[in-house]
Amino acid sequence: MKIERLPALNYTLAPSNHPYLNGAWTPLREEVDVADLEVIEGEIPADLDGVYLRNTENQIHQPLGRYHPFDGDGMIHQISFRGGRASYRNRFVRTRGLEAEQEAAGSLWGGLADSPKLGKRPGFGAQGALKDSSSTDVVVHAGRVLSTFYQCGEGYRLDPETLEPQGIESWTPIDGISAHPKVDEATGELLFFNYSKHAPFMHYGEVDRHNRLTNYIAVPLPGPRLPHDMAFTTNYAILNDLPLFWDPELLARGIHAVRMHDLPSRFAIIPRHGRTKDIRWFEAAPTYVLHWMNAYEECNEIVLDGYFQENPTPSPRADAPPGYENMMAYLDEHGFRPKLHRWRFNLADGTTREERLDDRLVEFGVFNQRYSGRKYRYVYSTVTKPGWFLFTGFVKHDLETGESWEFNLPAGRYASEAPFAPRADAVAEDDGYLISFIIDENAGHSECVILDARRIEAGPICRIALPHKLCSGTHACWADRKFIREGALG
Ligand SMILES: [Fe+2]
Repeated sequence: MKIERLPALNYTLAPSNHPYLNGAWTPLREEVDVADLEVIEGEIPADLDGVYLRNTENQIHQPLGRYHPFDGDGMIHQISFRGGRASYRNRFVRTRGLEAEQEAAGSLWGGLADSPKLGKRPGFGAQGALKDSSSTDVVVHAGRVLSTFYQCGEGYRLDPETLEPQGIESWTPIDGISAHPKVDEATGELLFFNYSKHAPFMHYGEVDRHNRLTNYIAVPLPGPRLPHDMAFTTNYAILNDLPLFWDPELLARGIHAVRMHDLPSRFAIIPRHGRTKDIRWFEAAPTYVLHWMNAYEECNEIVLDGYFQENPTPSPRADAPPGYENMMAYLDEHGFRPKLHRWRFNLADGTTREERLDDRLVEFGVFNQRYSGRKYRYVYSTVTKPGWFLFTGFVKHDLETGESWEFNLPAGRYASEAPFAPRADAVAEDDGYLISFIIDENAGHSECVILDARRIEAGPICRIALPHKLCSGTHACWADRKFIREGALG
């Protein structure tokens, strides 16, 4: 494997025993290009034509306080498939924060687990004291990559083929973009929201396939909230106001501590291209939901699938290193217990119906994006290692029949979010592949695996060697080259 390395960045992180700076969460330092990757097993499907993009968190400098894995600097990894061959490259997102800390040769901001007073400079986003490290999600819209930060950030653009930085998105509002803007591949539109600590506390926005901001409206809330994700149907966007948010009394003293409040979950149903006055609110059982799956319209109802947390405020983990008990608890799915769940909002009478779809603890789901906002059948979720934010397998659900299939990795191997890549000329919804990066802690390297989405239980149909061991992270996406080129598939 011929590896071309870029000049190294200024790096000051010292070795430690921090649970999320070691093992599968060891930050990666190098940026490389590899033109032709070696296939370890199987064959690269010749009909894969596009890019898998993965955002990971890689701390560069010695933290000022208590490191949280969501503080790390964003790094985009790309594997590009064409004609049965694959190439790889990875780049740090050149954020304002990264550039400032390179110049200062050290950390300038504290992290999620620190007091805001620790920062040496004003921060960005909902918390107001964090570095916008653009390390959470990555999507492709209007022919370019957009990377984002979970507590709202500026939205960084990169070239999807070369990962060359293309600067900060010009339409980014003053309150930023939240982690999960959604792309409607049929229309090429990007739907997004943001949230903040000042009224109206939340906004909703739309950007067309030509990258023009076409709508930006207030979604007024009673106070600061912490929504993470959104969903959409063909005609509506769905935002949420859930009862897990910062304690207002502590927040007034500058302390950002979340707790459950005695309130229902609330959902804002917003007509796409609509105004603030058009928003309708629905109530449901209290919970917190990190990620939604898909949504669609059926008769008078809007159907929304997501992961209902049975225990949004898990107890601190006694086995965590001192000072990290809460962080370890909130990174462990087995603590907050998310389960696949369906909400139905009746537009005729304003009521909500809810239904648990499965009893397994799953999260970080994907589905065939061609069915975004439309009635769909198959979802693919991840399972995690108890106690850890590490993916150890996948579950496929058939929402029509209730059947499910699992694929679990051997001990010491951890996956990344595995988006669905449709097969060229696919005739069925699950006719395609799941693509994931594996971190192999036993062997000390990484590889890319491709699963046949119709038979995930059979394991990878192809394994491809990667040039270095990746750090774990949060989100990933797949973009067909046709979609990159044309900006819409509808
Ligand atoms: Fe997320």
